[in-house]
Amino acid sequence: VPSPDPAGATRDETVDANRSTYDDPRTFQHETAGPHANGWVDAAEQAAVHRFASRARGQRLLDVGIGTGRTVGLLSLLSDDYVGVDYAPRRVDAARQRFPGADLRVADARDLAAFDDGSFDLVFFSFNGIDYASHDERADVLAEFHRLLSADGVLSYSTLNRDGPSHGERPYQLHRPGRRPDLSARNVARKLAVTAGDPARLWRRPSNYRATRNAAREGSEWSTRPLAALDFSLLQHFITLRGLGAELETAGFVPEVIYESEFLDYRPAREVPVGSTTSSAGGFHVVAHRVAAGDRGEGAAT
Ligand SMILES: C[S@@+](CC[C@H](N)C(=O)[O-])C[C@H]1O[C@@H](n2cnc3c(N)ncnc32)[C@H](O)[C@@H]1O
Repeated sequence: VPSPDPAGATRDETVDANRSTYDDPRTFQHETAGPHANGWVDAAEQAAVHRFASRARGQRLLDVGIGTGRTVGLLSLLSDDYVGVDYAPRRVDAARQRFPGADLRVADARDLAAFDDGSFDLVFFSFNGIDYASHDERADVLAEFHRLLSADGVLSYSTLNRDGPSHGERPYQLHRPGRRPDLSARNVARKLAVTAGDPARLWRRPSNYRATRNAAREGSEWSTRPLAALDFSLLQHFITLRGLGAELETAGFVPEVIYESEFLDYRPAREVPVGSTTSSAGGFHVVAHRVAAGDRGEGAAT
């Protein structure tokens, strides 16, 4: 898996290393062989889609960051007017093989100039896909989504929590930050089996971690850090709940609901109570609607 070159790399070059990582077929297995390969990544995603489904049915849908096609099989059931995009060409090829009839294109969420203003009624960016842009580019992505959506269009995306257990993970750790160690025989046996099946991960993970860590950045309500998934080769953006509310408001969106998300957790989704500014959840799945440019500042739910 390619690693960013910390020597002399600008922030955005480092972020483009995420794209190279995602375009490497060795990373596809993470999605195509996981328990979520043909379904929801967690209950929060399912609840979010259920929340907007009746409004999205038969409407113009843009599904961003389709990867190898998991969400194509889910969202295209809502409408025939469906376009799926991803910035990793090999991923789009893999998705086309799974869904030959679908309109799937190579496009980057940071620049969606190929699409006209107001040309979609729903924009969906699942599985923390927005987190692989730099902090500044993330604002560009949200501005593009605002431009592309119709007057009361719906935006739904998921994002990792800076106060959650994926933030600050290290190659050698007994448990995830803020979580209790799982020292059960089953978990220890599982970890030993993973390492026995791929001993090279013992050096690959710290090596990737060191390279990616050099590119980390810190803001008041966000940071970028190496993500344990894909062996610390990705630089991942994390945001606090407070920061998430602020970024939605700045971008011209009003949140309708924010669900707390935990990867592969299918217990009923928990809504973030209106007015909350902190959470220790793994991440969030947002359903928001667009505010017309002239109506901004009407207030967000968080
Ligand atoms: C964690 S994967 C999720 C893939 C798929 N949506 C799923 O849920 O199984 C994130 C996906 O977002 C894509 N992605 C990240 N940043 C992107 C961007 N700026 N524009 C388009 N796609 C992007 C990656 O290539 C990758 O396929």
